Amino acid sequence: MCRARIKLILDLSLMQFFLDTADIDAIKKYASWGIVDGITTNPTLISKEGVDLKTRIQEIAEIIDGPISSEVVATDSDGMVEQGRKMAKWHKNVTVKIPMTSEGLKAVKILSAEGIKINVTLVFSVPQAMMAAKAGADFVSPFLGRVDDISSEGIELVADIVDVFQNYGIQTKVLAASIRHPLHVVQAMKVGADIATMPPAVFDKLVSHPLTDQGLEKFLSDWEKCKSCQKEQ
Ligand code: G3P
Repeated sequence: MCRARIKLILDLSLMQFFLDTADIDAIKKYASWGIVDGITTNPTLISKEGVDLKTRIQEIAEIIDGPISSEVVATDSDGMVEQGRKMAKWHKNVTVKIPMTSEGLKAVKILSAEGIKINVTLVFSVPQAMMAAKAGADFVSPFLGRVDDISSEGIELVADIVDVFQNYGIQTKVLAASIRHPLHVVQAMKVGADIATMPPAVFDKLVSHPLTDQGLEKFLSDWEKCKSCQKEQ
C-alpha cells in the first residue's frame, strides 16, 4: 500500500505549514493569511535579525498560536536542560529545539519527561530520527535541502522516516526542514511529512500561479467591459 494511503488511514490531519524565520515583519505578513501553523528558528536565523532571543520568541508568540521552536546553544546535556527549562517558561507554545547528538538525546529524555515540547534538529538519518523519537521528541527535523546539497535525495530521508515511524506507530511528528523551493514542499506532502517548515520566500511562491493571475485579469477585464452586468451594483 502506498505511503500516502497509509497516512490517510492513520491520520486525517492536513499538512502543517511552519515558517522558518525570525523576521517579525514576515511573520506578521504571512500570519495574516491564516494558514501559518507554527514557527521554527535557529541560531543563524536569530543572528540575522540581531535581536534578543527571548524577546523575539515572545513577540512571535503574540502573533502565531502554534509551536515556536527556540534552539539551545549549549552542547552538553546539563547546559541544554538548563536552557531548555528557561525557554519553556517564556511561553506555553515554546518548543525547545535540541541538536541530534548523544548529549542532546540525554537532554531530550529529561526535558520531555517534564512535559516540555521538543524538536530534535539536524537529523540526517533514519536511526537518528528513531533515537530522537525514543528519547521523547515531539518533532524530528530532517534537513532535506542540506542532503540535496551533498548530491543525495533529501526527500528519501524524509520518506524513510515517515515509513519507519508508521511501522511502529510512533507519534513523533516528521517536520521537513531545510526546504529551499516549492517542489520540496510538494515532495514532503507526497511522502506524508506532518509539517513543512519553509522560508517566507518559499511560502510566497506556493500561493502564486501565472495562470491564476492571467485568469483573474481576464475575468476582471471582461467584467469591466460589460456595463449591463453591473446595473444593480
Ligand atoms: O530550521 C532549520 C533549517 O530549515 C535550515 O535550513 O536552508 O539553512 O539548510 P537551511
